[in-house]
Amino acid sequence: MDKNITIPKHIGIIMDGNGRWAKKRMLPRNMGHKKGAEVFQDITRYCNELGLESVTFYAFSTENWKRPVEEVNGIMSLLKDYLKKAFDYQKENNKIVFLGDKSAFDKELYDLMIEIEEETKDRTGMVLNIALNYGSRGEIVRATKNIAKMVKNGAIDIEDIDENLFSDNLYTKGQPDPDFILRPSGEKRISNFLLWQIAYSEFIYMDVLWPDFTRKDLDNAIIEFNKRNRRFGGV
Ligand code: IPE
Ligand code: IPE
Ligand code: MG
Repeated sequence: MDKNITIPKHIGIIMDGNGRWAKKRMLPRNMGHKKGAEVFQDITRYCNELGLESVTFYAFSTENWKRPVEEVNGIMSLLKDYLKKAFDYQKENNKIVFLGDKSAFDKELYDLMIEIEEETKDRTGMVLNIALNYGSRGEIVRATKNIAKMVKNGAIDIEDIDENLFSDNLYTKGQPDPDFILRPSGEKRISNFLLWQIAYSEFIYMDVLWPDFTRKDLDNAIIEFNKRNRRFGGV
Protein backbone atom coordinates (compact mmCIF):
# COMPACT_ATOMS: atom_id res chain seq x y z
CA MET A 1 0.00 0.00 0.00
CA ASP A 2 1.30 3.45 -1.00
CA LYS A 3 2.69 5.55 1.88
CA ASN A 4 0.48 8.49 0.93
CA ILE A 5 -2.68 6.49 1.46
CA THR A 6 -4.56 7.17 4.69
CA ILE A 7 -5.62 3.96 6.40
CA PRO A 8 -9.14 4.31 7.77
CA LYS A 9 -9.78 3.70 11.46
CA HIS A 10 -12.86 1.55 11.07
CA ILE A 11 -14.26 -0.34 8.08
CA GLY A 12 -17.62 -2.11 8.02
CA ILE A 13 -17.85 -5.06 5.62
CA ILE A 14 -21.07 -6.72 4.45
CA MET A 15 -19.86 -10.19 3.51
CA ASP A 16 -22.28 -10.88 0.66
CA GLY A 17 -22.36 -13.14 -2.38
CA ASN A 18 -21.56 -16.54 -0.85
CA GLY A 19 -24.69 -18.14 -2.29
CA ARG A 20 -24.13 -16.83 -5.81
CA TRP A 21 -20.49 -17.93 -5.68
CA ALA A 22 -21.60 -21.50 -4.88
CA LYS A 23 -24.40 -21.45 -7.46
CA LYS A 24 -21.97 -20.46 -10.21
CA ARG A 25 -19.98 -23.59 -9.37
CA MET A 26 -23.06 -25.82 -9.03
CA LEU A 27 -22.18 -26.30 -5.35
CA PRO A 28 -24.52 -26.19 -2.36
CA ARG A 29 -24.86 -22.70 -0.86
CA ASN A 30 -23.10 -23.77 2.31
CA MET A 31 -19.90 -24.33 0.32
CA GLY A 32 -20.04 -20.62 -0.43
CA HIS A 33 -20.32 -19.86 3.28
CA LYS A 34 -17.34 -22.14 3.96
CA LYS A 35 -15.17 -20.35 1.41
CA GLY A 36 -16.50 -17.01 2.68
CA ALA A 37 -15.36 -17.89 6.21
CA GLU A 38 -11.82 -18.55 4.94
CA VAL A 39 -11.80 -15.17 3.22
CA PHE A 40 -13.07 -13.59 6.44
CA GLN A 41 -10.03 -14.96 8.29
CA ASP A 42 -7.55 -13.77 5.72
CA ILE A 43 -9.08 -10.30 5.47
CA THR A 44 -9.10 -10.02 9.28
CA ARG A 45 -5.37 -10.75 9.32
CA TYR A 46 -4.84 -8.19 6.60
CA CYS A 47 -6.79 -5.55 8.55
CA ASN A 48 -4.42 -6.23 11.46
CA GLU A 49 -1.42 -5.81 9.18
CA LEU A 50 -2.79 -2.55 7.82
CA GLY A 51 -3.20 -1.23 11.35
CA LEU A 52 -6.95 -0.61 11.48
CA GLU A 53 -8.40 0.28 14.89
CA SER A 54 -11.53 -1.69 14.24
CA VAL A 55 -13.31 -3.67 11.60
CA THR A 56 -16.89 -4.86 11.62
CA PHE A 57 -17.99 -7.88 9.63
CA TYR A 58 -21.67 -8.50 8.97
CA ALA A 59 -21.92 -12.28 9.21
CA PHE A 60 -25.57 -13.11 9.98
CA SER A 61 -28.54 -10.76 10.12
CA THR A 62 -31.72 -11.01 12.17
CA GLU A 63 -33.46 -11.52 8.80
CA ASN A 64 -31.19 -14.41 7.75
CA TRP A 65 -33.17 -16.83 9.98
CA LYS A 66 -35.75 -16.77 7.15
CA ARG A 67 -33.46 -18.95 5.03
CA PRO A 68 -34.07 -22.68 4.53
CA VAL A 69 -33.35 -24.66 7.67
CA GLU A 70 -30.48 -26.64 6.06
CA GLU A 71 -28.72 -23.40 5.20
CA VAL A 72 -29.21 -21.92 8.67
CA ASN A 73 -28.01 -25.16 10.29
CA GLY A 74 -24.98 -25.22 7.98
CA ILE A 75 -24.08 -21.65 8.96
CA MET A 76 -24.47 -22.47 12.67
CA SER A 77 -22.18 -25.49 12.47
CA LEU A 78 -19.62 -23.50 10.48
CA LEU A 79 -19.76 -20.83 13.18
CA LYS A 80 -19.14 -23.42 15.89
CA ASP A 81 -16.12 -24.80 14.04
CA TYR A 82 -14.69 -21.32 13.65
CA LEU A 83 -15.33 -20.18 17.16
CA LYS A 84 -13.82 -23.38 18.54
CA LYS A 85 -10.62 -23.61 16.55
CA ALA A 86 -10.12 -22.19 13.11
CA PHE A 87 -10.75 -18.71 14.32
CA ASP A 88 -7.15 -18.25 15.41
CA TYR A 89 -8.24 -15.77 18.02
CA GLN A 90 -5.66 -17.07 20.45
CA LYS A 91 -2.80 -16.05 18.18
CA GLU A 92 -3.86 -12.48 17.51
CA ASN A 93 -4.17 -9.54 19.86
CA ASN A 94 -7.70 -8.73 18.70
CA LYS A 95 -10.48 -7.74 21.04
CA ILE A 96 -13.48 -9.66 19.73
CA VAL A 97 -16.95 -8.22 20.17
CA PHE A 98 -20.16 -9.81 18.92
CA LEU A 99 -22.75 -7.30 17.77
CA GLY A 100 -26.28 -8.65 18.06
CA ASP A 101 -28.51 -10.66 20.36
CA LYS A 102 -26.50 -13.71 21.39
CA SER A 103 -29.37 -15.26 23.33
CA ALA A 104 -30.96 -16.53 20.09
CA PHE A 105 -28.13 -19.03 19.56
CA ASP A 106 -27.94 -22.49 21.11
CA LYS A 107 -26.14 -22.86 24.42
CA GLU A 108 -22.88 -24.10 22.93
CA LEU A 109 -22.58 -21.12 20.59
CA TYR A 110 -23.78 -18.69 23.23
CA ASP A 111 -21.16 -19.94 25.72
CA LEU A 112 -18.41 -19.80 23.09
CA MET A 113 -19.29 -16.21 22.24
CA ILE A 114 -19.31 -15.13 25.89
CA GLU A 115 -16.02 -16.95 26.52
CA ILE A 116 -14.30 -15.32 23.54
CA GLU A 117 -15.51 -11.84 24.48
CA GLU A 118 -14.41 -12.38 28.06
CA GLU A 119 -10.99 -13.76 27.10
CA THR A 120 -10.22 -10.98 24.66
CA LYS A 121 -11.74 -7.99 26.44
CA ASP A 122 -8.46 -6.53 27.70
CA ARG A 123 -6.57 -6.94 24.46
CA THR A 124 -5.00 -3.85 23.02
CA GLY A 125 -4.96 -4.67 19.30
CA MET A 126 -7.64 -4.19 16.68
CA VAL A 127 -11.27 -4.49 17.70
CA LEU A 128 -12.84 -7.24 15.64
CA ASN A 129 -16.60 -6.83 15.63
CA ILE A 130 -18.60 -9.72 14.27
CA ALA A 131 -22.27 -8.97 13.68
CA LEU A 132 -24.25 -12.13 14.36
CA ASN A 133 -28.01 -12.15 14.69
CA TYR A 134 -27.59 -8.44 14.17
CA GLY A 135 -30.18 -6.00 12.88
CA SER A 136 -29.77 -2.28 13.23
CA ARG A 137 -33.44 -1.47 13.82
CA GLY A 138 -33.50 -4.04 16.61
CA GLU A 139 -30.32 -2.51 18.04
CA ILE A 140 -31.95 0.94 18.06
CA VAL A 141 -35.12 -0.38 19.74
CA ARG A 142 -32.98 -2.12 22.36
CA ALA A 143 -31.08 1.11 23.07
CA THR A 144 -34.38 2.98 23.38
CA LYS A 145 -35.69 0.45 25.90
CA ASN A 146 -32.48 0.66 27.96
CA ILE A 147 -32.71 4.43 28.07
CA ALA A 148 -36.44 4.36 28.89
CA LYS A 149 -35.67 2.07 31.85
CA MET A 150 -33.01 4.46 33.10
CA VAL A 151 -35.49 7.33 32.98
CA LYS A 152 -38.17 5.24 34.65
CA ASN A 153 -35.97 4.19 37.55
CA GLY A 154 -34.71 7.74 38.01
CA ALA A 155 -31.08 7.08 36.98
CA ILE A 156 -31.30 9.87 34.37
CA ASP A 157 -33.64 12.69 33.32
CA ILE A 158 -35.17 12.97 29.87
CA GLU A 159 -32.90 15.98 29.34
CA ASP A 160 -29.85 13.75 29.77
CA ILE A 161 -30.70 11.86 26.58
CA ASP A 162 -28.35 12.97 23.84
CA GLU A 163 -26.52 11.43 20.88
CA ASN A 164 -23.63 10.27 23.05
CA LEU A 165 -25.90 8.52 25.51
CA PHE A 166 -27.72 6.90 22.63
CA SER A 167 -24.45 5.68 21.04
CA ASP A 168 -23.38 4.29 24.40
CA ASN A 169 -26.43 2.06 24.41
CA LEU A 170 -25.63 0.45 21.07
CA TYR A 171 -23.59 -2.73 20.62
CA THR A 172 -20.75 -0.56 19.22
CA LYS A 173 -20.44 1.43 22.46
CA GLY A 174 -17.15 3.31 22.70
CA GLN A 175 -16.08 2.64 19.12
CA PRO A 176 -15.53 5.15 16.32
CA ASP A 177 -18.17 5.17 13.57
CA PRO A 178 -17.12 3.35 10.39
CA ASP A 179 -15.21 5.47 7.88
CA PHE A 180 -16.66 3.42 5.10
CA ILE A 181 -18.97 0.52 4.47
CA LEU A 182 -17.87 -1.97 1.88
CA ARG A 183 -20.36 -4.23 0.17
CA PRO A 184 -19.10 -6.79 -2.31
CA SER A 185 -21.43 -8.86 -4.54
CA GLY A 186 -22.77 -5.90 -6.50
CA GLU A 187 -25.76 -5.20 -4.23
CA LYS A 188 -26.20 -1.52 -3.44
CA ARG A 189 -28.18 -1.62 -0.23
CA ILE A 190 -27.50 -1.51 3.48
CA SER A 191 -29.70 -4.45 4.62
CA ASN A 192 -30.22 -3.25 8.20
CA PHE A 193 -26.51 -2.75 8.98
CA LEU A 194 -25.34 -0.03 11.41
CA LEU A 195 -28.02 2.54 10.51
CA TRP A 196 -27.15 4.90 13.35
CA GLN A 197 -23.37 4.52 13.03
CA ILE A 198 -23.13 5.21 9.26
CA ALA A 199 -24.55 8.75 9.39
CA TYR A 200 -21.36 10.07 7.72
CA SER A 201 -19.75 6.88 6.41
CA GLU A 202 -18.75 6.54 2.78
CA PHE A 203 -20.22 3.66 0.76
CA ILE A 204 -18.15 1.46 -1.50
CA TYR A 205 -19.80 -1.21 -3.62
CA MET A 206 -17.83 -3.82 -5.49
CA ASP A 207 -18.91 -6.41 -8.02
CA VAL A 208 -16.70 -9.19 -6.63
CA LEU A 209 -18.48 -11.97 -4.69
CA TRP A 210 -17.26 -12.27 -1.08
CA PRO A 211 -15.65 -15.74 -1.50
CA ASP A 212 -13.54 -14.27 -4.35
CA PHE A 213 -12.61 -11.15 -2.36
CA THR A 214 -8.84 -10.59 -1.99
CA ARG A 215 -6.45 -8.34 -0.11
CA LYS A 216 -6.02 -6.45 -3.37
CA ASP A 217 -9.76 -5.71 -3.40
CA LEU A 218 -9.46 -4.23 0.09
CA ASP A 219 -6.51 -2.12 -1.10
CA ASN A 220 -8.66 -0.87 -3.96
CA ALA A 221 -11.50 0.00 -1.59
CA ILE A 222 -9.10 1.96 0.63
CA ILE A 223 -7.70 3.76 -2.41
CA GLU A 224 -11.24 4.63 -3.51
CA PHE A 225 -12.00 5.86 0.02
CA ASN A 226 -8.95 8.14 -0.16
CA LYS A 227 -10.43 9.85 -3.23
CA ARG A 228 -13.60 10.80 -1.39
CA ASN A 229 -13.96 14.30 -0.02
CA ARG A 230 -15.73 14.02 3.33
CA ARG A 231 -17.32 17.24 4.47
CA PHE A 232 -19.48 16.24 7.44
CA GLY A 233 -21.89 19.01 6.53
CA GLY A 234 -19.19 21.67 6.35
CA VAL A 235 -17.65 23.23 3.25
C1 IPE B 1 -23.83 -13.66 2.63
O1 IPE B 1 -23.95 -14.33 1.42
C2 IPE B 1 -23.83 -14.59 3.82
C3 IPE B 1 -25.00 -14.46 4.68
C4 IPE B 1 -25.98 -13.60 4.53
C5 IPE B 1 -25.09 -15.40 5.80
P1 IPE B 1 -25.35 -14.74 0.84
O2 IPE B 1 -25.70 -16.10 1.34
O3 IPE B 1 -26.36 -13.67 1.09
O4 IPE B 1 -25.04 -14.83 -0.71
P2 IPE B 1 -26.01 -14.42 -1.90
O5 IPE B 1 -26.38 -12.99 -1.68
O6 IPE B 1 -27.18 -15.34 -1.83
O7 IPE B 1 -25.17 -14.63 -3.11
C1 IPE C 1 -26.77 -8.98 4.38
O1 IPE C 1 -26.82 -9.84 3.28
C2 IPE C 1 -26.46 -9.75 5.61
C3 IPE C 1 -25.14 -10.37 5.65
C4 IPE C 1 -24.20 -10.31 4.74
C5 IPE C 1 -24.86 -11.11 6.84
P1 IPE C 1 -28.19 -10.46 2.75
O2 IPE C 1 -27.84 -11.29 1.57
O3 IPE C 1 -28.93 -11.11 3.84
O4 IPE C 1 -29.00 -9.15 2.31
P2 IPE C 1 -30.18 -8.98 1.27
O5 IPE C 1 -31.22 -10.01 1.60
O6 IPE C 1 -29.60 -9.18 -0.09
O7 IPE C 1 -30.64 -7.57 1.46
MG1 MG D 1 -26.89 -12.03 0.04
